[in-house]
Amino acid sequence: MATVLENRQLSEDFFLLKARAENNVRPGQFYMLRAWDTYPVLSRPISVFDADGETVTFLYKVVGQGTELFSRLEAGQQITLDGPHGNGFPEDIKGKIALVGGGVGIAPLYMTARAYKEKGSRVDLYLGFSGEPLLEKEYGAVADRLEVNVGGFITDYIDPAEYDYIVTCGPEIMMRVLYKKCVDTGTAAPLYVSMENRMACGIGACLVCTCRTAGGNRKVCKDGPVFLGEEVFGVG
Ligand SMILES: Cc1cc2nc3c(=O)[nH]c(=O)nc-3n(C[C@H](O)[C@H](O)[C@H](O)COP(=O)(O)OP(=O)(O)OC[C@H]3O[C@@H](n4cnc5c(N)ncnc54)[C@H](O)[C@@H]3O)c2cc1C
Ligand code: FES
Repeated sequence: MATVLENRQLSEDFFLLKARAENNVRPGQFYMLRAWDTYPVLSRPISVFDADGETVTFLYKVVGQGTELFSRLEAGQQITLDGPHGNGFPEDIKGKIALVGGGVGIAPLYMTARAYKEKGSRVDLYLGFSGEPLLEKEYGAVADRLEVNVGGFITDYIDPAEYDYIVTCGPEIMMRVLYKKCVDTGTAAPLYVSMENRMACGIGACLVCTCRTAGGNRKVCKDGPVFLGEEVFGVG
């Protein structure tokens, strides 16, 4: 069990929840969160927005019963954090890196951008929102350039040919469009995509999160959530 330190409402349906939990999180990993006893049956997967070894912070959107229960948590209350899980984004890349996020997919990009910048990369962040933009000051502080779009297609703003690496998380359609743009422009930059398939166990035991890839069926929770774009979108 972890103690909630803060659960701040950022907009009508987005919250930032910080909990005390010792951790060794890598950027792009996620936890299975639970703030109830028996119902809903399943814990909910949420990416790590930020972590410092002693605390973990999550950025989440209220969409249903589980996330609605998270939104009611107050400082001092308990939450079950199971994790961190998943492979995360590659840590050994360096150069000019674009991070492209849409909706709740912006969550894992904050810590990832900071980590790449600390290792000497140039980091450009492209964030797309359907409603009010969130945490612009915070994201701006961990990037060399911040591009924000509301209500349009954030993928219109990026020229893949400018980058050594591209990292993305968001709606599958956005990531697929970005993959196609990379292919159409003949970019050599590897594209890393973070998949957000529905999950049940979160630890590789149930197959609910299975995703078809060029290398056969893979479990998003254990083999991912990060894959090369061509592995998942290059299979037709
Ligand atoms: C690896 C991973 C990381 C994630 N990281 C974040 C994050 O950082 N912040 C965040 O807000 N959300 C994140 N999600 C999505 C989050 O897990 C779901 O929104 C949450 O489980 C919904 O639970 P609920 O009980 O509130 O809604 P439910 O009642 O379970 O569902 C409500 C609605 O949301 C849809 N939904 C549920 N899960 C997903 C999903 N995985 N993808 C698309 N639609 C879904 C359902 O189809 C339904 O329409 C992540 C998912 C995965 C797999
Ligand atoms: S969620 Fe059970 S195998 Fe991935």
